[in-house]
Amino acid sequence: NHTPTPEDKFSFGLWTVGWTGTDPFGTSTRPAFDPWEYAAKLAELGAWGITFHDNDVFPFDATDEERSSRVGKLKDAADKAGLVIEMVTTNTFSHPVFKDGGLTANDRSVRRFGLRKVLRNVDLAAELGASTFVMWGGREGTEYESSKDLYAAHARYAEGLDTVAAYIKEQGYDLRIGLEPKPNEPRGDIFLPTIGHALALIATLDNGDIVGLNPEVGHEQMANLNYTHGLAQALHSDKLFHIDLNGQRGLKYDQDLVFGHGDLISAFFTVDLLVNGFPFSPDAPRYDGPIHFDYKPSRTEGVEGIWDSARANMEMYLLLAEKAKAFRADPQVQALMKEASVDELAQPTLAEGESIKDFLAAEEEFDADAKGAREYRYVELYQAALRHLVS
Ligand code: GCO
Ligand code: MN
Ligand code: MN
Ligand code: MN
Repeated sequence: NHTPTPEDKFSFGLWTVGWTGTDPFGTSTRPAFDPWEYAAKLAELGAWGITFHDNDVFPFDATDEERSSRVGKLKDAADKAGLVIEMVTTNTFSHPVFKDGGLTANDRSVRRFGLRKVLRNVDLAAELGASTFVMWGGREGTEYESSKDLYAAHARYAEGLDTVAAYIKEQGYDLRIGLEPKPNEPRGDIFLPTIGHALALIATLDNGDIVGLNPEVGHEQMANLNYTHGLAQALHSDKLFHIDLNGQRGLKYDQDLVFGHGDLISAFFTVDLLVNGFPFSPDAPRYDGPIHFDYKPSRTEGVEGIWDSARANMEMYLLLAEKAKAFRADPQVQALMKEASVDELAQPTLAEGESIKDFLAAEEEFDADAKGAREYRYVELYQAALRHLVS
């Protein structure tokens, strides 16, 4: 059954279905609707949650009145439709004031303005009951290395994140920050380009315990990286707070295709990780957060195509989830994994309590040539996986 239900925890950014097709080369190809209209329709399709940037709901220059009236309308629509507002984020990229960044702009007054905008939305996120506050620093970066003190840029990025995290704690909000890496676009080079870079910066923060990751499929793939490996490393650091699923085909502009419409095999193994966890490492952290889609209905699509594509994301996930479960349950797959010693990797290399001295002194039979000639049969195992995927 590939009909989405709220139990699937599917969630969509309002800016995804709300994208009207404006790109650097052309104007909108579709009309814009009000945020609450998108929300109602998403609920009808089986979504469980929605997410948004402040300026998806009210304009940059909205008065306090306009802001709270529009947020109120969205909240009412979400409540009426039974939708959870699970994540809120801040637009620190559209207005020209942010052309040199929000938290890392050279101009200090811009940074103070940007940080206040972010903190104001932390209040909004908490008020609406969101559990994640995403920070995608799309304009944090450069086109020209000569334009910034690159040490200071990272120091200011860290300062900004620490300030937001400290504020969340001070206010006692039940919120965690999800950093969203991206290598480029709109900046020539964006700071925190990959999951690994973000993890390293988080490790330097005073309040890093509530700062983690919101990795997006296409962004890691734009850096030629393996998204599933990235999720695994984020889980290993206990930092996988949220995800952005979509599709990307190779090294080009950020396509934001429907999930699975890019690298399908990679999508299969991502879903395998999400639904099956690490079966040989039962104590490993699991991701149990929202299945959040951050895609764009292609510019060729009209209004019907918005909803075709929204449905396609959920259907792809459910199809892949079914296949990933069948893959893990297949006795032939299990035998091939055994043959490939997949289970053995979960066994620590040193014995329990074994000292390095004992380890070095241990005399054990080992035939390097024989091990060099052993079979793993990874190709056969992969073929068995793909048989599940394509049949
Ligand atoms: C992108 C990004 C953005 C962010 C979103 C959240 O496609 O470059 O995914 O869409 O996810 O702005 O802040
Ligand atoms: Mn993207
Ligand atoms: Mn995203
Ligand atoms: Mn996006």
